[in-house]
Amino acid sequence: MSRSVSAWQGEPILDRLAVVGLGLIGGSFAKGLREKGLFREIVGFDLDASSRAMAVCLGVVDRCTETLEDACRGADVIQLAVPILAMEQVLASLAKLDLNGAVITDVGSAKGNVVRCATRVFGEMPARFIPGHPIAGSEQSGVEAAKSTLFQRHKVILTPLLSADRSALALIDQLWRTLGAEVEHMDVEHHDEVLAATSHLPHLLAFGLVDSLARRHENLEIFRYAAGGFRDFTRIAGSDPVMWHDIFQANRDAVLSVLDAFRSDLDVLRAAVDTRDGHRLLGVFTRARVAREHFSKILARRAYVDVMHSKDLIFLANHGGSLSGQIRVPGDKSISHRSIMLGSLAEGVTEVEGFLEGEDALATIQAFRDMGVVIEGPNQGRVIVYGVGLNGLKPPPGPIYLGNSGTSMRLLAGLLSAQPFDTVLTGDASLSKRPMNRVAKPLREMGARIETGEDGKPPLKIKGGQRLLAMHYRMPMASAQVKSCLLLAGLYASGETSVTEPAPTRDHTERMLRGFGYPVRVDGRTAAISSGHTLRSTRIEVPADISSAAFFLVAASIAEGSDLLIEHVGINPTRTGVIDILKLMGADIELLNEREVGGEPVADLRVRSAKLKGIDIPEDLVPLAIDEFPVLFVAAACAEGRTVLRGAEELRVKESDRIQVMADGLQILGVKANPTSDGIVIEGGSIGGGEVWSCGDHRIAMSFSVAALRASAPIRIHDCANVATSFPNFLALANQAGMRVSEETHS
Ligand code: S3P
Repeated sequence: MSRSVSAWQGEPILDRLAVVGLGLIGGSFAKGLREKGLFREIVGFDLDASSRAMAVCLGVVDRCTETLEDACRGADVIQLAVPILAMEQVLASLAKLDLNGAVITDVGSAKGNVVRCATRVFGEMPARFIPGHPIAGSEQSGVEAAKSTLFQRHKVILTPLLSADRSALALIDQLWRTLGAEVEHMDVEHHDEVLAATSHLPHLLAFGLVDSLARRHENLEIFRYAAGGFRDFTRIAGSDPVMWHDIFQANRDAVLSVLDAFRSDLDVLRAAVDTRDGHRLLGVFTRARVAREHFSKILARRAYVDVMHSKDLIFLANHGGSLSGQIRVPGDKSISHRSIMLGSLAEGVTEVEGFLEGEDALATIQAFRDMGVVIEGPNQGRVIVYGVGLNGLKPPPGPIYLGNSGTSMRLLAGLLSAQPFDTVLTGDASLSKRPMNRVAKPLREMGARIETGEDGKPPLKIKGGQRLLAMHYRMPMASAQVKSCLLLAGLYASGETSVTEPAPTRDHTERMLRGFGYPVRVDGRTAAISSGHTLRSTRIEVPADISSAAFFLVAASIAEGSDLLIEHVGINPTRTGVIDILKLMGADIELLNEREVGGEPVADLRVRSAKLKGIDIPEDLVPLAIDEFPVLFVAAACAEGRTVLRGAEELRVKESDRIQVMADGLQILGVKANPTSDGIVIEGGSIGGGEVWSCGDHRIAMSFSVAALRASAPIRIHDCANVATSFPNFLALANQAGMRVSEETHS
């Protein structure tokens, strides 16, 4: 008999599977494997004769035996799908048999208990016993509900001991995978704690609440008034009482510890209700809501399956089209981040309107929630931040995860270097490749203690309780993130912290600090701040993001017959390089209704199609258009003549290497695009259709969507999920304006 299941080609390669306990789970396991034909025969046993008969009749097993011993003797694999409290007795029967190397496994939902039983019965945990727990079920029970697909895309947790036989583990692992399950390995204690928290405690509460209400209202009259909330919360009180009675006995210790922790949190909530502490209630509710929304997203991606390698989101951009009408793109990303940071550190309540509800800005909100700040929203761009003052942040419960957001990580690094507690900052695969020494180095010079990962990449480990000393820093690169990071550290450093930049970069931090009543001295290219003042809450109206508007500025310029109005766009002079560059190329862009909101200039931008020409991009405009180059390269590809960009090496360390990734994509579309160390040379001409890769970079995904307007055939763009980091409604708005780009649906 061969056990190489992974090389299995369809013929039975194992002799016999014995399934003991023919309920929903055991029956589904047997039925699924029977359909796969991996075993020569599948034999079932159940104490209940009618379940045995039904299992044969429904084709769940090949045959049933009258005794446990008959089923298991000579089996290759024995699956124990019996009630947890029956396990010891079943194992005791098995211990009397010569199992001849059979691999034993089980499906119990508490693993410590199973291991303890097996150890008692066998004298030690048998090396070929691999405990398991499929996290799947259904409202129905019994073998008649058995479904061969029950475990598909559900998690199965195996909890082998260190002494487990590796080949036995590999076999059980593979059997579950054959059924389409996602298998994970965990140690026994961890499994029991996780399940106590996520499954056992909620069941205890549901049973307990329904009983408590029912006992006090014996005629059950009260339930006539209960609505959806009650129904949803207590649905699981309809579960099998005997099974749950077993589970609470089997997982007693882990349940008690999570129950005690919950009771103390409940006491805090009770006190908050008692003392009318609305702030605390709001804190708990807003944090819970976010956590629950996160969970809903996981659920939406199919129950219990953590999509490790999330599906490639493909944009299909049809060629041609023109843009017209009036649109408003989402709020400015840089300003949105800063509104949360300064709002959190302010005294009082800050109201934000026009907030960008993209993943990057949401990561900043979550970071501050993790540090105890109560933040309501975002709700249609409205956020309310209950500031805790400069010294009011609390230690986060664990590492702060910042997703794709470089701005969050770099700015937070400055702020967190001065806190009394330690923090760890982590991010997704793209953020984990981005350089952090640019902030770590000057912060260390101020007295911060920061460790980075390899080569100065994330994660950042920041030691709390350091006294920062102000310093003057001459930035080697033009970076608003570095400048802002140091100014935020300067809020806490003794003395005046000043930063001189080699070229002007976005000044939203300086403007917003002043908006919060905090003095900032700006002298030419130097911005300076001293500690000792306070931030006072304010109202912030976030203008639409010029970096998002840029896609439409280029789109309407290159698509013949376009006339588009983009409303309420931030035109801070440190951000308008894209307009200047496009105008130099011959674009027809008008700034209408210029005004100032909350310290930031805004305007409506009217853009009409125009014949573009290639230019040498003035180097002083590079930092002022730093995020807009991917789409400017598309403009260059449509222009007449050559466009040359120099002095833009920073583009190589953005969400992707934007010079290389854009050059690769443009070349695929037949454009002559030659990358250089600090820029690119693009010969304008025609654009073909084809298949390009954004490499997870939101701005590149959107830029190639724009390119399709002038392409001779559709463009398929891979890896577009990160568009949600900065422009969650891009597809809707693009189509509204006249582009024809959509998400490709997979089967
Ligand atoms: C940002 C600054 C820029 C920009 C980024 C946002 C900010 O980065 O590319 O998207 O909000 O400060 P650098 O400062 O690294 O150039």
